[in-house]
Amino acid sequence: MIALATWLGQFAPSALMAINKKTRELKAAGVDVISLSIGAPDFETPENAKRGATDAIGRGDTRYTNVDGTAELKAAIQEKFRRENGLDYALDQISVGTGAKQVVFNALMATLNAGDEVIVPAPYYASYPDIARIAGAVPRVVTCPAESGFKLTPAALEGALTGRSRWLVLNSPGNPSGAVYDQGELAALAQVLRRHPTVAVLSDDIYEHFLYDGAKFATMAQVAPDMADRTLTVNGVSKTYGMTGWRIGYAGGPSALIRAMARIQYQCTTSPCSVSQAAAVSALLGSQDQVTERMARFEKRRDLVVGLLNAVDGLDCLSPRGSFYAYPACAGLMGKRAPDGGTIDNDADLASYILEAERVSVLPGAAYGLSPHLRISFANDEDALTEGCARIARACSALE
Ligand SMILES: Cc1ncc(COP(=O)(O)O)c(C=O)c1O
Repeated sequence: MIALATWLGQFAPSALMAINKKTRELKAAGVDVISLSIGAPDFETPENAKRGATDAIGRGDTRYTNVDGTAELKAAIQEKFRRENGLDYALDQISVGTGAKQVVFNALMATLNAGDEVIVPAPYYASYPDIARIAGAVPRVVTCPAESGFKLTPAALEGALTGRSRWLVLNSPGNPSGAVYDQGELAALAQVLRRHPTVAVLSDDIYEHFLYDGAKFATMAQVAPDMADRTLTVNGVSKTYGMTGWRIGYAGGPSALIRAMARIQYQCTTSPCSVSQAAAVSALLGSQDQVTERMARFEKRRDLVVGLLNAVDGLDCLSPRGSFYAYPACAGLMGKRAPDGGTIDNDADLASYILEAERVSVLPGAAYGLSPHLRISFANDEDALTEGCARIARACSALE
């Protein structure tokens, strides 16, 4: 038998993996499962991006590329940062990885030492604390409850900072919270960080183009340009362009960090996929009309889902101002009994019960560091959302 690394023991088997496995099994058995757990937009990769990829294959661009991205893609990313964020990164300040996840991984691996701390506001994208742990660091989770709009306050940030703090990870619009930090809120956090010059900021902007209620996107590098030498701006094509399977993410940041990240990446994947990089160039430089059109469609879906969830006794859902997840609190259902006699002790029990009883897959807040909540993706068509929420309502009303 091959023994596993001892540090793997730090990772509790993920509640997400259990639900996703069960969902796949039910689907494979031909059961009609409505999947409201997916983290991918439901629209297709744009035609111009697909053409970019087929052209690259035709040209024979099918070999290893520069470790952290082709010159063409770096130039397209530079143009994107200028056009959409008013950020001016030099080409050697840009890194491309196999998804934003690898970019985050590279950055944390390249900078953390054993015992260092990474401040992670909860609810969080589940990979942040686990990547910090893989890098030998300690995630310092700061609970940001619904009452604070799921957002980190300057006081909570100040309270979490220690002599070991190395990174603050911010994600706006947020997964799973849908929280959006405005310029003023970021400026207030920057004010705290100015007193702690050894703490860097990783701004994960991957849901930048999913904003509602007229919310305006802001990112730390824009709001606090004086902190550019310790800010990494992470983004990618997965969500904006419906390109999760192409695996292209990128970042802008200080060149010394970008170089160190390339060293990690070289030993991990050598370079991102050449064909996917060509597709990303076309997506970033092509027409962006669909990107804004989609926002209006997603806002309608958001309204639909939040309305339906808030009509369910025991669920209480803030209206997210961004991303494509609703994150209702389900405290009102804890301790209840299911028709089969099982008790709903926590949100993982509730998610399992909803899947078993009504064949809707949703994810438990436990996986995102803030319970009891459910994460419900509205990156789905209106019929599936309406039917999915009706089933959730039926499941919840059957609890006693
Ligand atoms: C907040 C956040 N960051 C990063 C990622 C990873 O994106 P990519 O597909 O570019 O690796 C996700 C994917 O769900 C996410 O939700």
